[in-house]
Amino acid sequence: MFVCMCYGITDKQIKNAVETHGVGNIRELKNVMALGSQCGKCIELAQQVIDNTIMDETLFSDAG
Ligand code: FES
Repeated sequence: MFVCMCYGITDKQIKNAVETHGVGNIRELKNVMALGSQCGKCIELAQQVIDNTIMDETLFSDAG
């Protein structure tokens, strides 16, 4: 699923940035990819993907 149409960035790429770069918010995400610097419409959805990924990881590590 595309989150950022302007740069063709998918939710998978954002998830990957959270997992490999420890991205926790939009500012940090922008350090690793160009997302959000064109029209900015994707910011809200990108933040949700970040939040969901962090939540998933927390659940996963609690269960493990
Ligand atoms: S959709 Fe991400 S900057 Fe436009």
